[in-house]
Amino acid sequence: MDLRIVMLGDIVGAPGLAAAIQQLPVIRERYRPHVLIANAENAANGSGLTPEQFKRLRGAGVDGVTLGDHVFKKAQIVASLDQEQTLIRPANLPAAAAGRGWMRLESKPREDDPVDQPLPAVFVTTVLGRIFSNLPADDPFAAVDRVLDELPEEDPIVLVEVHAEATSEKQALGWYLDGRVTAVLGTHTHVATADAKILPNGTAYITDLGMTGPHESVLGRRVDRVLRHMTTAMHAPFDVADGDLRVCGVFLEVDTETRRATGIERIELPTSLG
Ligand SMILES: [Fe+2]
Ligand SMILES: [Fe+2]
Repeated sequence: MDLRIVMLGDIVGAPGLAAAIQQLPVIRERYRPHVLIANAENAANGSGLTPEQFKRLRGAGVDGVTLGDHVFKKAQIVASLDQEQTLIRPANLPAAAAGRGWMRLESKPREDDPVDQPLPAVFVTTVLGRIFSNLPADDPFAAVDRVLDELPEEDPIVLVEVHAEATSEKQALGWYLDGRVTAVLGTHTHVATADAKILPNGTAYITDLGMTGPHESVLGRRVDRVLRHMTTAMHAPFDVADGDLRVCGVFLEVDTETRRATGIERIELPTSLG
């Protein structure tokens, strides 16, 4: 049978959080995911995530949450990173950093699943790219190898999020991991890419999931503020925008026998907000 997984790209600000929560019932009905994941590194006014926002996402049906380079922008999240089993930070941060680099998510059965087949769990890890990265991150290739060695199950379903600026680094990780993991999914650049595909050895790949948030913006921030800064070099607070709210991500189908992807499809849902 096929396991169905949805992952949403970077949730930006309160508008992005509202958009995700509004569209989650639509996503559940349309894609019937067994596991639903979201990157929420920009939820707290564009930088970081608060424990309350994490709880709201979990309460709305998100099974696991990932963070990227903005992981430590909200100090309160440090305790959650250490305590919560369904919240991760990049695996290639220094070993002394709070939190964990991978998580195991139980698949939730759907009504039409065959009753005699136990559903496999889904492991999720995330790594930062090093090209143009503003955090001191280790080699993401070696970091994913370490995570794969550490996972406690044989031949598991593994999603690798690559939170990186450079398209080249994301593509390289896709090829590096093809056939060894179920999917390599890019985040961080906030603009969805038109390259969703299955690589030759069965790994689903996309360079960027796109952003869940205000698309009438520059990467989620107010256009007037970004333009003011870029045209004058003067300070202008990059507040989160609120127009044209969309939910972006991917829908994956995974063969539970081979643990390889059989389908990847971009999700981009408009909302009635913003
Ligand atoms: Fe982001
Ligand atoms: Fe980021």
